[in-house]
Amino acid sequence: MSTATPASRYATTVLERCDALAAFSDDPGRLTRRFATSAWRAAGEAIEGWMRDAGMATRRDAIGNVIGRLEGAGAGTFVLGSHLDTVVDAGRYDGPLGVLVAIACAQRLRDEDREPPFAIEVVAFADEEGVRYGTAYLGSATLAGTLDQALLARTDANGISMADAIDAIGGDPGAVAAARRDPADLLGYCEVHIEQGPVLEDEDVPVGVVTAIAGQTRARVTFAGSPGHAGTVPMAMRHDALPAAAEWILAVEDTARSSDGLVATVGDARIDPGAANVIPGQVILALDVRHADDDARAAAAAQLRQRADAIARARDLRSAWAPMQDNPAVECSPALADALADAVSAAGHRVVRLPSGAGHDAVAMSAIAPVAMLFVRCAGGISHHPAEAVAPDDVAAAIDVLTGYLAATVSSDGTT
Ligand code: GLV
Ligand code: MN
Ligand code: MN
Repeated sequence: MSTATPASRYATTVLERCDALAAFSDDPGRLTRRFATSAWRAAGEAIEGWMRDAGMATRRDAIGNVIGRLEGAGAGTFVLGSHLDTVVDAGRYDGPLGVLVAIACAQRLRDEDREPPFAIEVVAFADEEGVRYGTAYLGSATLAGTLDQALLARTDANGISMADAIDAIGGDPGAVAAARRDPADLLGYCEVHIEQGPVLEDEDVPVGVVTAIAGQTRARVTFAGSPGHAGTVPMAMRHDALPAAAEWILAVEDTARSSDGLVATVGDARIDPGAANVIPGQVILALDVRHADDDARAAAAAQLRQRADAIARARDLRSAWAPMQDNPAVECSPALADALADAVSAAGHRVVRLPSGAGHDAVAMSAIAPVAMLFVRCAGGISHHPAEAVAPDDVAAAIDVLTGYLAATVSSDGTT
């Protein structure tokens, strides 16, 4: 007879491991873990060790996804996971929490001598944030077989191509296209993730069931003029790229504010050459546009592109728009979401359903499997920031829900 182990014990381990992973950083004094760096590699090795401790057979695929597999009683494989890379100056839960909760559930099933009804694969995806190469979901798109192979030639801020970065961490850029997971035996994919917003806190519940994930457009927008001496070129004779960029950034904010459900962000700006006494010759901006409705997102992106052209023309400058990413909105599988909601109720919590404005590996995984997501309440709704925090009891609730969810039978068409 198996004996149930309290989820709080596993939650403590999950939180200790999130702390341990936070020490693997590219930058001293803050957590930044870009795709395919030595800190990223060390984090992946730690995760692989914890997978093995939980009784999983592990492997790395060609791009560096870390995959642990636990066999089950019946046919089919259910995939769990999230990502091991982070944003710049990140919190410690965005990504690792979902991987570590999944490993904790596998460990718990093993400790309680409960064989899952199907095989479980836990994936720590190589890249979800897209910080290093400006486009997200590198790991999950590789597993799903949808990664645009032209991206392998894209270079990072230091001129290192993605192919060379993969090579440097012991991956195989030539085998990335073939790393697609055969979907034939896949029953579904479920990702646990911090909410990254304030809804669950407001609703006073530890976890929530995700209904859909907003679509996302990213572009690199360049304003180019002429550099010059800040003390000698008269104002009327300048072609200063920075005021044009500033005017356009305000237009981005104005467009998003005046359109219901649209969010738009200019999250990075590079000023060239970047000195107090030199007129900026070029500014490169990183734009991110999201909406639950794909047509509304596409229309907003097109409008912002035209606006950049118009602003540049009016100032006798040039503008360029380089598309970096374009993902449609993804609906979670109603059958898997309902099963997750049942597991939330069975664990004694009120069911709250909510959409995700943030992107997740579930977006890419939806190409090969029905997907579901469980959000965990996060303090103050703060994320992509070192103040990101989760409560141990909420992590324990997520472990209870996910273990119950896995223990319930899921048939191969995703229905319960
Ligand atoms: C990932 O965190 C994203 O939504 O950008
Ligand atoms: Mn993130
Ligand atoms: Mn994330």
